[in-house]
Amino acid sequence: MENRDQWTSRLGFIFAAAGSAIGLGAIWKFPYVAGTSGGGVFLLIFILFTVLVGLPLLLGEFIIGRTTQKDAIESFKELAPNSSWHLIGRLGMVTCFILLSFYSVVGGWIILYIIKGITGGLSGLTNEQYQEVFGQTISDPLISISGHLIFMLITIFVVSKGIAEGIEKANKIMIPGLFILLLIVILRSVTLDGSHVGIEFFFKPDISNMTSETLLFAMGQSFFTLSVGVSVMITYSSYVSKKESLPASAISIVIMNIFVALLAGLAIFPAVFSFELQPDQGPVLIFNVLPFVFDQIPFGIIFLVAFFILFLFAALTSAFSMLEIIVAVFSKGDKTKRMKFSWIIGLLIFLVGIPSGLSFGVLSDITLFDKIIFDNADYLVSNILMPLGALLISIFIPLKISKERLLEEISSGSSIGKKIFASWYLLLKYLVPIAIIIVYLDLIGII
Ligand code: PHE
Repeated sequence: MENRDQWTSRLGFIFAAAGSAIGLGAIWKFPYVAGTSGGGVFLLIFILFTVLVGLPLLLGEFIIGRTTQKDAIESFKELAPNSSWHLIGRLGMVTCFILLSFYSVVGGWIILYIIKGITGGLSGLTNEQYQEVFGQTISDPLISISGHLIFMLITIFVVSKGIAEGIEKANKIMIPGLFILLLIVILRSVTLDGSHVGIEFFFKPDISNMTSETLLFAMGQSFFTLSVGVSVMITYSSYVSKKESLPASAISIVIMNIFVALLAGLAIFPAVFSFELQPDQGPVLIFNVLPFVFDQIPFGIIFLVAFFILFLFAALTSAFSMLEIIVAVFSKGDKTKRMKFSWIIGLLIFLVGIPSGLSFGVLSDITLFDKIIFDNADYLVSNILMPLGALLISIFIPLKISKERLLEEISSGSSIGKKIFASWYLLLKYLVPIAIIIVYLDLIGII
């Protein structure tokens, strides 16, 4: 028997999985994608996708991981020997590689923001000045790439140290802390003059606000925030004990995720409309909006720095999971190999991410399909590779794992497992693949 690490406490797994899920996706990406893709109607579709499609997938990945107790590749090999199904795991690794390469760029922005906040560059400015400061920071090649490098170095360092000690401890303090600071921002944001317009924009589904890509983006966003379709959750649940309830963990992660996305939206949109900013400014949205809000709070700069520090942790815990799944496959439980591969792969990811980082400055003229490099990398990951991985997993599970084994695994450590089994199975087998396919048919204009 190979000696595998396990999460060291009951809550370790849930916090690590939640740490992977809650990150830039809910706090940074959700508001800006909602802002470009229809506001309230986007929120509604996002929630539907998260509950009806994302949740069954998440639970499915948990089951694969715990039943095999193997990494993203070996688990597929065990369940479907001598077949090509393990390519799902490889696809997940490639997806995480590309994902982390641009994720880290945004992680770097957060680091730069914290430094700016501490050194006094982020208070008492006007709307335009804040946007200018941020624009200058991310367009300066040396500065933005340094942020990206620091973020990757932290990620590599923690992952190279190994799973139990590396990942689980920080989450227990950081996630609750982030909730509290988000609540403070919301309190200020919703009490600003004219904030009701933003609240309405965010909560009132208006079908006429839908764009041709709203469905696709809502689906991509729900996969992105839950970290599903890339086998990360398979790897994480392979370390979990049989006494843990997988359905309860999956459900709480989904609830937390929707909750954070709601908080993030409520923090951002009222302020956007109150300050007459644009909701559809893309990836820079929260960086441009939050300093104003904090400026309106007594001792705001302290809160701003605290918020961005917690936000950085949320981003890091997600980043750890992306690097972890790749490193776990290469190192196979060997500590020296873990160290070596964390560095090799991590540094490669850093290099691959450089063009994304530069695409807000010197490479901003290089576009494909009217999008800069960063947006293309994000589109490829969120709207193509993750849904593809998700589709394949939803086909794989009913096809290759017996109902008995699934039932046993879902009920191990869980009293609700048996009760929800039938509905989970139906959703995963039928609704998930059909929903993903419909979104694509809709996108290419067939329906
Ligand atoms: N769920 C993470 C976030 O919202 C992103 C992520 C995707 C992490 C896929 C791991 C794997 O930030």
